[in-house]
Amino acid sequence: MKLENIISQSIHENGKPIGFDEFMNFALYSPGLGYYRSNSNIFGHRGDFITAPETSDLFGYSVAKQCAQIINGGGNILEFGAGSGVLAIQILFQLGRLKSLPKKYYIMELSGQLKQKQKQTILKVLPELINRVEWLTELPIGFSGVVIANEVLDAIPAKRLIFSGGRFVELGVDCFDDNFQWKHFDEPYTNPLISLPVNCEEGYTTEVNLQALAWIESLYNAMTKGTVLLIDYGMDRNEYYHPQRKDGTLRCHYRHKASDNPFEKIGKQDITTSVNFSDIAERAEEAGFELSGYCTQAMFLISLGIENFLIQEENNTKRDILAQQIKQLVLPSAMGETFKVLALSKKQTVKLDGFREQNLLNKL
Ligand SMILES: C[S@@+](CC[C@H](N)C(=O)[O-])C[C@H]1O[C@@H](n2cnc3c(N)ncnc32)[C@H](O)[C@@H]1O
Repeated sequence: MKLENIISQSIHENGKPIGFDEFMNFALYSPGLGYYRSNSNIFGHRGDFITAPETSDLFGYSVAKQCAQIINGGGNILEFGAGSGVLAIQILFQLGRLKSLPKKYYIMELSGQLKQKQKQTILKVLPELINRVEWLTELPIGFSGVVIANEVLDAIPAKRLIFSGGRFVELGVDCFDDNFQWKHFDEPYTNPLISLPVNCEEGYTTEVNLQALAWIESLYNAMTKGTVLLIDYGMDRNEYYHPQRKDGTLRCHYRHKASDNPFEKIGKQDITTSVNFSDIAERAEEAGFELSGYCTQAMFLISLGIENFLIQEENNTKRDILAQQIKQLVLPSAMGETFKVLALSKKQTVKLDGFREQNLLNKL
């Protein structure tokens, strides 16, 4: 059955439009058909978009320095949504150089195709470490160490809301004559976990991500000790609900072109929403986490000394290439400021090196 037919059947069986989060879940994660579950050619120049670890090894080497400080001789790593496996390689390689390898590098990956790709990548580059890597299907109990989620929160299905008649209502997805279209729900949208702006222009559209909030809580319960590093594009609540952001943050990506139409290329294009880091931080604190730091990706990498890798490179050509990659990771016009890092800790008192140069927790 085609993915479009599965979704339209679910709308008809439901007897009313489905929430956008349900639509996004079908489009990205339907077994064998959803974007992340049918496709392994997603990342890099030949895929649909390029993430930070795909941009440069120096990203993972810097994150590894943060991991080494937290693990400090004990503890494991758990990476969510490990993409092509390249971040795992960068981190393991650098932790090896720092003589700080974890006993286990766990990966939680929803996609069978990506799991295969990750195994192949690790076997090719670091075969001697493959026994340390373990793929999990559920959260480990009593995890201690570092949890890493790079561009995972933005891929968790979100609800879409629209300001209509003086209040927010959910913007669902309906299907007419085999075409998907937006449909306002009638009842006002309220949720005690979410603080929405009170007054907006009629038609103002935005997103809320309840599944991401539930995921944060489940992480707290799974951990005994350690730190969660959330790296993603997003912003604090004031910026998220800025009056000028009146069409929300929903974006689709196909072969390096962005669009705002999730109803085309279903299962073939990525669908994302930006992260509201204030919502995440509040939920994390309510769950029991301490907020250990929040800053731009640029300042996180600079605090961890990313430029030292450049200085150490003796070959001029390679150094020029690395310099270009660093620019891509840290310049405000590239990934430097749109991406943020939020660290959540449980029973972990170390002051994290990654926030040495900047800590914007007061903005959340
Ligand atoms: C944009 S990709 C990022 C991949 C990789 N981290 C990188 O930076 O290249 C998002 C990934 O998050 C994964 N993902 C989303 N929700 C997840 C969850 N609850 N558990 C594990 N992985 C998840 C998706 O399957 C997908 O592989």
